[in-house]
Amino acid sequence: MNLRKSTIFDPNSDIIYFCGDVKNLLGDIPDEFVQLIVTSPPYNIGKEYEKKLEIDEYLKEQEKIISECVRVLKDEGSICWQVGNYVDNGEIIPLDILLFPIFSKFNLHLRNRIIWHFGHGLHATNRFSGRYEVVLWFTKSNNYVFNLDAVRIPQKYPTKKYYKGPKKGKLSGNPLGKNPSDIWNIPNVKSNHVEKTEHPCQFPVELIERLVLSLTNEKDWVFDPFMGVASTAIASLLHNRKAIGAEIIEGYVNIGWERIDQAEKGELRIRPMNRPVYDPKEPQDYLPPRIVNLQSQITDQQPKLFENNKNSYNEGTEQTNENNI
Ligand SMILES: C[S@@+](CC[C@H](N)C(=O)[O-])C[C@H]1O[C@@H](n2cnc3c(N)ncnc32)[C@H](O)[C@@H]1O
Repeated sequence: MNLRKSTIFDPNSDIIYFCGDVKNLLGDIPDEFVQLIVTSPPYNIGKEYEKKLEIDEYLKEQEKIISECVRVLKDEGSICWQVGNYVDNGEIIPLDILLFPIFSKFNLHLRNRIIWHFGHGLHATNRFSGRYEVVLWFTKSNNYVFNLDAVRIPQKYPTKKYYKGPKKGKLSGNPLGKNPSDIWNIPNVKSNHVEKTEHPCQFPVELIERLVLSLTNEKDWVFDPFMGVASTAIASLLHNRKAIGAEIIEGYVNIGWERIDQAEKGELRIRPMNRPVYDPKEPQDYLPPRIVNLQSQITDQQPKLFENNKNSYNEGTEQTNENNI
């Protein structure tokens, strides 16, 4: 089946990619339409696609968009706002600290402040080089979608067993893998990354895949107000979700559509979600780029690096720990 594509709001399509100011798209989106909003807004640092504003003015602009995002979000839905630092005269101001009160004002519930750690970036000379940004994950209510099993990662010691007590001999970790925690080590999209386009700050698709898989179900809508070159759309369509977003720069929209077309034809290469960060001491863990084919998305499973014995595990243990934190 071909993807149903639209450049304006059309609830019967699979992908809506609006070229223009997101405020003009938001007005057409009904209340409680999307399950997940995930985005990286302009950071107000003077990139080619933004006009640097006084910080108060920037926050007011963000608040207008966030307020509309809350309106279009389903009750059981989530907002993930991915940000780094605003830099003023060599002084850093973490944007999540400034934005948190806005989300709070709209009664959203912060579930995690995820640290996205990456190995490459500018080398600072007057402070330590910045090697992380954050994803603020909020839910609209206390009744929210969270599919942890869909995003578990390999256990460090998959065969480790209890050595005494009533569970002696049984696996002590969950054979489906462990909770990926709130520190995510995912390479950013720099020059050698297989997904690199001419956009200066694209999302790695795998970062968004983890959010899409855990915070939505199949057929749900995922909205990216600042869509760039459609990384959020690709991560969503790949897992049988629908995607909606806006991008103000036409050149980026063209690249985004090209990437979606490539994914449809089975020609888009992405970094696979389960590939460990390259470690010269463990070169056997290398996984080749994954070739995306949206036509076969449902059967196109992630390559797995681990396979455990699922029979003797006591499911209760980890569940209890996770529920307590
Ligand atoms: C940080 S980048 C997001 C990149 C995106 N995550 C990706 O993977 O390509 C922010 C994007 O927002 C776009 N943008 C800025 N203001 C906008 C607005 N008012 N409406 C829609 N897009 C906007 C910029 O052109 C830029 O591409």
